[in-house]
Amino acid sequence: MVGLGKGPLSVLCIGIAVAVLLKSQHPGSPKNTPFEELREGVFRHLNDFPLLPAPFLPVPTASWLIRGNDQKSWILIDAGPSTPSYQKSLKAAVSSLLSGPDDEIKLILLTHGHPDHVEGLPWLLEKYPKAQLAFHEKEAPFVTGGHQYKDLKGDTLIFELGKHTQGVDSRQPQQRAVVLKGRHGDVAGSLTGFVTGAPAWLPQGFLEFLHTPGHSPGHLVFIHKPTQSVIAGDAFSYQSWGWPFFKTAVPRLNRPYPIATVNSTAVQVSQKQIANLPGMVTAFASHDDAAGSSAAEMKAWTGSFPDA
Ligand SMILES: *[C@@H]1O[C@H](CO)[C@@H](O)[C@H](O)[C@H]1NC(C)=O
Repeated sequence: MVGLGKGPLSVLCIGIAVAVLLKSQHPGSPKNTPFEELREGVFRHLNDFPLLPAPFLPVPTASWLIRGNDQKSWILIDAGPSTPSYQKSLKAAVSSLLSGPDDEIKLILLTHGHPDHVEGLPWLLEKYPKAQLAFHEKEAPFVTGGHQYKDLKGDTLIFELGKHTQGVDSRQPQQRAVVLKGRHGDVAGSLTGFVTGAPAWLPQGFLEFLHTPGHSPGHLVFIHKPTQSVIAGDAFSYQSWGWPFFKTAVPRLNRPYPIATVNSTAVQVSQKQIANLPGMVTAFASHDDAAGSSAAEMKAWTGSFPDA
């Protein structure tokens, strides 16, 4: 051993041991994942979003497909991050599930405009030229209006420090956009271009939206009424952390990533509203190490949170 004393050598050994330990828990090279039917007609594509470079633990991130009432029109919720491995997997998964000659995505819904939910939009909008793109009116500045989330003033130090690292393409095509207005509503009732009311593939009472501000100003969750499932975006997370250092066996309900959450008080109010939606059976977070959180679990967790 030339030039390395005992001190630096032990630091090096500990460093290698930690790296090996982390690597052993890392799921390995990115793999394609299919859409899985978690509830009848509700399909989830879950793939890793490497928030930090390996060997730090990647974040599971969901995109959803909802099968329309005619069995061949589809509604996509969230488009995933732009990392090549994620988008490669999403493309393969969409092609595989929408394999019939008449299968088509007719509507793309956004829970919110953060990069890990919208960066797949360019190819999706190109591949499905008739699809409309819908999001909440309070999110519009960050989706089509050219604004950045870093222009917002948050209520935590971590958001104020971290917001500068987060840029998003906020110039999505305005002519494709449908703005969902108000606190709670029917998605079909908000679409444009249907003179005779809701389209057959998306009847009234099939899909509702609820404005759940906090993580972002216009954050939405979508309620699939036939199965009483809530597609909850980043209203909360359901992970088995301590990320980035280790994974515990049991996932638990948690706040959404604070670094990207503009109003931490509003988040809790929104979480309580989701838990108390009448008839709700399961709420599915975007960042979920399992497969959804039950209404009972949500109610127990949000019991002490403030009301609206
Ligand atoms: C954050 O949300 C709370 C609860 O909804 C609200 O009273 C407060 O005004 C919000 N803060 C900001 C800075 O918008």
